[in-house]
Amino acid sequence: MSKIISVHSFRGGTGKSNTTANVSTLLAAQGLRVGVVDTDIQSPGIHVLFGLKEDDIQHSLNDYLWGQCAIEKTAHDVGQNLDANNNSDSKIGPGQLFLIPASMKPGEIARVLREGYDVGMLNDGFHDLIDALKLDVLMIDTHPGLNDETLLSIAISDALAIIMRPDQQDYQGTGVTVEVARKLGVPHMLLVVNKAPPLLDAEEIRSRVEKTYNCEVATVIPHSDEVMTLASAGVFVLRYPDNPITAKLKQVTARLMA
Ligand SMILES: Nc1ncnc2c1ncn2[C@@H]1O[C@H](COP(=O)(O)OP(=O)(O)O)[C@@H](O)[C@H]1O
Ligand SMILES: [Mg+2]
Repeated sequence: MSKIISVHSFRGGTGKSNTTANVSTLLAAQGLRVGVVDTDIQSPGIHVLFGLKEDDIQHSLNDYLWGQCAIEKTAHDVGQNLDANNNSDSKIGPGQLFLIPASMKPGEIARVLREGYDVGMLNDGFHDLIDALKLDVLMIDTHPGLNDETLLSIAISDALAIIMRPDQQDYQGTGVTVEVARKLGVPHMLLVVNKAPPLLDAEEIRSRVEKTYNCEVATVIPHSDEVMTLASAGVFVLRYPDNPITAKLKQVTARLMA
């Protein structure tokens, strides 16, 4: 049985793409066949973490949504890229990691904003991908806030990770997202608190957030100079396999697969 996991947040810049890239890499490193779809069509970015250059993107999710190709044509084997560029011992190894990138071409982004697209095609596309690539896990990196495509991805997910910072604006917005996800009947939802000030007590944050939303907090990840310095130029868990943040990302991965 394959599994669909969405990573969402109400506000932007919380760490969705970093979390998605790291969790999908950890799953592939366990030997699973993993697909990642960048549904943040308005501001795509996760291809950068996987080292996929714009010039190497032959077909994007946009082409599929406009009926120009089958969705499996848009899949890029980023696992191979990561292993080739990674000097450390930690490799993706036997698993497979595919990215379905969204287009970075200004005209194509503008077209989506202007014309929209048939959200039903996304749903068909996700299932076609799972079949064509024989995926164990499909991960969806989303655009922040609530719109048609995030509602769809939440509704069809087996598991949902909502990323939030310990910030009053995030607290309110996360409440909205949690409520929507409950109404949509997501089987498994968990929160990840990211960018916590290292001076604050992580346990205290966890219990406060869990009480506020009556929802599991998978982990509290501190604001990290290493993550900031890597600056999305790679996948953290491969670069820093022994860092405490890698252990926290493994915990998120385990909870999402539970
Ligand atoms: N724990 C963290 N500590 C420091 N910086 C972080 C952390 N998590 C993410 N970042 C940084 O925050 C920025 C936004 O992350 P990103 O994953 O792109 O968020 P989103 O996809 O939600 O917009 C990036 O510059 C990333 O390196
Ligand atoms: Mg993002």
